[in-house]
Amino acid sequence: MKMAVPVRRAVERMRAYHPPLEGRTNKLRLDFNENPIGCSPAVRRALAKLSSASISSYPEQETVRRRIARHFGVQPQELLLTNGTDEALSLVVNTFVESGDRVLLVEPTYAMYRFYSELADAKVASARYDAEMRFPWDEVLTVLKTAPRVFFLPNPNSPTGNLLAPEELRRILRASPRTMAVIDEAYFEFSGLTVIPWIRRYRNLIVTRTFSKTAGLAGLRLGCIFVHRELAAIMRKAQSPYPVNVAALAAAEAAIGDRQFIATTVREVRRGRQELERGLARLCVRCFPSAGNFVLVHFGARAKKVVAALERKGILLRDRSSDFGGEGYVRITLGTLAQTKRLLRELEKAL
Ligand SMILES: Cc1ncc(COP(=O)(O)O)c(C=O)c1O
Repeated sequence: MKMAVPVRRAVERMRAYHPPLEGRTNKLRLDFNENPIGCSPAVRRALAKLSSASISSYPEQETVRRRIARHFGVQPQELLLTNGTDEALSLVVNTFVESGDRVLLVEPTYAMYRFYSELADAKVASARYDAEMRFPWDEVLTVLKTAPRVFFLPNPNSPTGNLLAPEELRRILRASPRTMAVIDEAYFEFSGLTVIPWIRRYRNLIVTRTFSKTAGLAGLRLGCIFVHRELAAIMRKAQSPYPVNVAALAAAEAAIGDRQFIATTVREVRRGRQELERGLARLCVRCFPSAGNFVLVHFGARAKKVVAALERKGILLRDRSSDFGGEGYVRITLGTLAQTKRLLRELEKAL
């Protein structure tokens, strides 16, 4: 199309990102690492209680921010609330990345790191997991020597599921003090490993968390940035005044109050993960160890057929083959143990 007004070159160059976003409501959604159990009943009660006055006012977040900060063991000045992790990633790029700067990724990984980097006209340096899903240490350390501006690193990573240990994260932070390392802990509740307390020690560390996974609030969009208080004040300057809506704020407060719901989700996911691993071994299908609420499975040439067969049975899986050069990898999210058992029964038939 001939444009009346020129589009930015960075936008022109980008490939469109097309996740399958429609028609998922009544299916067993094992495709997006949401919480297939749903959310806490306390969240639904809090949403039902929202007053007309609060819905019709611009959101005031200070009280909730203080409570969330206390819940995570940080000072309020060390926490920013964001419209999902996605806004957190965009805020990192908007604060630190100039056009032409380099951003380091280890791929395959969460697609939005590349998305926001390319949108900002950054140069993406991409290291890759090998066929055994091993972290490419040599490549990463070589790139870090050249001080890229930002390194986006989910821990655990999606879709591979692997988790770096604290000493490995320390190695990364020390390798390049001039690189902002963004450790994305979206799956923290399943891995149990966090570096939030390190934000006081490292000025090149940002930790992100989300309410989309364990808390089951993906539809409300709420994320967190944990960072040294001086950096938090600077990043706040680059954020719009009302990033988080009143429903998300009310829901978050209720969600942190219901520890039982989180504990149940984590228990079900861990049991389901074992069950799925055992089931896949029985079917002679390879999967990779995962510290998240999902497992990466190698179906090879059968991947497309398996995903389509399960979809016909109302079960959605995420075919990630295109991230692995067409190699037949599928990512499966875990819900309750009963949901995982249903999945396995259908998998058995499909294979
Ligand atoms: C590593 C990682 N970070 C962040 C997100 C998304 O978080 P949010 O819903 O808070 O934007 C995902 C979602 O799949 C993810 O895998």
